[in-house]
Order: sequence, then C-alpha cells, then structure tokens
Amino acid sequence: MEKEYKSKYYSHVVKIVLIFIVVGVLAVVGRNYLLPDTMGQYGHYRGSDLEDQRNVEVRSHTNESCFECHRPIRLIHKAGVHKTVSCEFCHGPYADHVKDGKYVAKLPVKKGMEIKELCLRCHNKIIRARPEESIKVVAMPQHLEEMKVQVDHNCNQCHMVHDPLLWIKAANEMMGMEMKGDKKN
Ligand code: HEC
Ligand code: HEC
Ligand code: HEC
Ligand code: HEC
Repeated sequence: MEKEYKSKYYSHVVKIVLIFIVVGVLAVVGRNYLLPDTMGQYGHYRGSDLEDQRNVEVRSHTNESCFECHRPIRLIHKAGVHKTVSCEFCHGPYADHVKDGKYVAKLPVKKGMEIKELCLRCHNKIIRARPEESIKVVAMPQHLEEMKVQVDHNCNQCHMVHDPLLWIKAANEMMGMEMKGDKKN
C-alpha cells in the first residue's frame, strides 16, 4: 500500500496566512490614519511643514541690525579686530531685545570677572582644537605676568571689549612702539 505523505492538518498554515492578511490590512489602514494630511503633497515630507518653517520666529540677526540703533558702537566695532565677532555671542539674541523694530527688554551685559570668562571662551590657549592662525590665544595667568601686572587684572582694563586693540595701539603710538606681528588692521 502506498504511503500517504500529505497531511490533512493544514489549519496552522491558514492561521499564519490570515495573520499576514490582517497585519497587512491594519498596516495600510493605520498608515493612512496616522500620516498627516499633507504628507507627500510635494515630495516625501509633510507639505504644511513649509508654512510652519516660514512662521518660525527669527531670533538672531546680523550685527548690521544692531547698528541701526547703536551708532557709536558701530564706528568702534566695525573698525576693530572684533569686526567679525557677532554682538549676539556676547549679548544674546536680538529677539529678546527688539520686537517690531522697538526696544522691548534689556540684553545681558557681562560685568566684572564674567568678562574674563567670556573672553577666554574664544581666546584661551587651553582650547587645543583652535588653530592660532584663526584666533589668537593666550595662556592665563602667563599673559598677565608677561604684561607685568597683578594676575587679578581683568581683560577690559587693557582691551576695550568692542575693539580690543584700540587702547593698546594708541598707547604704543604714544610711546613710539611697534605692535608685535602685523597689526595694520
Ligand atoms: C566680545 C564680546 C562682545 C561683543 C562682540 C560685543 N559686546 Fe557689547 N559689551 C560687551 C561687554 C563685556 C560689555 C560691558 C563693557 C564693560 O563693562 O567694560 C559691553 C557693553 C555694551 C553696551 C553698553 C551696555 C552698558 O550698559 O554699558 C552696549 C550698548 C553694547 N555692548 C552693544 C554691543 C553691540 C551693538 C555689539 C555689536 C556691534 C556688541 N556690543 C558686541 C561685550 C561684547
Ligand atoms: C530698535 C533699536 C535697537 C536695536 C535694533 C538694538 N538695540 Fe540695543 N538698545 C536699544 C535701546 C533703546 C537701549 C537702552 C538705552 C541705552 O542704554 O542706550 C539698548 C541697550 C542695549 C544694551 C545695554 C543693556 C540693555 O539692554 O539696556 C545692549 C548690550 C544692547 N542694547 C545690545 C544690542 C544688540 C547686541 C543688538 C543687536 C542684536 C541691539 N542692541 C539692537 C535699542 C536697540
Ligand atoms: C566669539 C569669540 C570671541 C570672543 C568671545 C572674544 N573674542 Fe577677541 N577675537 C575674536 C576674533 C575672531 C578675533 C580676530 C582674530 C584674531 O585676531 O584673533 C579676535 C581678536 C582679538 C584680539 C586681537 C588679537 C590680535 O593680536 O590680532 C584681542 C586682543 C582680543 N580679541 C581680545 C578679546 C577680549 C579682551 C575679549 C573679551 C572682552 C574677547 N577678545 C572676546 C573672537 C572673540
Ligand atoms: C595689563 C594689560 C592687559 C591685560 C589685563 C590683558 N591683556 Fe591681552 N594684551 C595686552 C597687550 C599689551 C597685548 C599685546 C598687543 C600686541 O602688541 O600685539 C595683548 C595681547 C592679547 C592677545 C593677542 C595675543 C597674540 O598672540 O597676539 C589676546 C588674544 C589677548 N591679549 C587676550 C586677553 C585676554 C582674554 C585677557 C583677559 C583674560 C587679557 N588679554 C588681559 C594687554 C593686556
């Protein structure tokens, strides 16, 4: 007698196929239900996101936007070695200060030893990743020892914050001394 290999018990296969079909249908229905309405309107992203991005508040502006109201600082800052440094790095964002072209609130102004901390965030020799050709760095307290002053001197006693070489150049000119390096700027 020939042996019967084919099983009559196939309900487990039917169950698996059914599960696949149910999962597939749920996936299609769920996707349509969960995706935002404007998905795919222009491409593989939410079309209404363009509008959302347009409405994001612009918090930071250029230095030029500050100069509109701060004329005296404009003359100093634009002529000095800090001309490429953003006002906002040291004072915070425009949007905290000006709304619809009007002064609305104070910006922070660093005082005392906070100023030293601020300067050293860019000029500290410890920051090894910073090539000296791009930003000059100093080591503390050696910089002050070289200047032969007490090591509790603050940076802005010699460097004007908005043009750090202004007073030093003037003093050197008075003494008939050369600036070290090429400081024609
Ligand atoms: C490197 C950091 C730095 C940058 C860049 C900078 N400031 Fe200042 N600013 C200071 C510090 C520090 C003081 C406080 C000065 C002091 O006490 O010697 C100050 C003072 C001021 C003051 C006077 C505030 C007061 O109450 O006396 C104004 C106004 C000002 N800055 C505006 C600007 C504008 C506008 C720019 C951009 C053109 C700018 N600053 C760029 C650090 C900076
Ligand atoms: C619409 C005019 C206007 C603009 C634009 C403006 N300021 Fe001012 N700012 C003022 C006025 C007014 C004061 C307060 C009066 C004063 O001390 O001169 C002031 C004061 C300041 C002060 C001193 C602290 C304070 O808030 O009173 C700083 C620092 C300052 N501004 C920085 C900036 C920076 C940085 C920008 C650009 C990001 C800027 N300002 C743009 C009008 C303006
Ligand atoms: C956001 C970074 C930044 C901060 C904060 C900053 N500076 Fe500068 N500073 C620069 C850049 C950029 C230059 C121009 C490149 C250069 O000469 O090193 C510069 C130039 C200088 C120079 C001239 C260097 C030279 O001999 O050419 C001095 C001095 C100086 N800064 C002092 C200060 C002092 C003091 C403070 C704190 C009030 C300060 N800086 C805060 C970025 C910064
Ligand atoms: C006693 C005055 C004095 C004090 C305080 C002082 N400096 Fe200087 N700094 C100078 C002089 C002078 C130079 C040399 C300028 C030149 O001839 O190139 C200089 C140069 C620099 C340079 C340029 C270095 C280079 O390689 O060209 C930087 C950056 C600097 N100072 C940052 C600072 C910082 C940051 C502080 C505060 C932690 C500070 N200085 C405190 C007087 C001072």
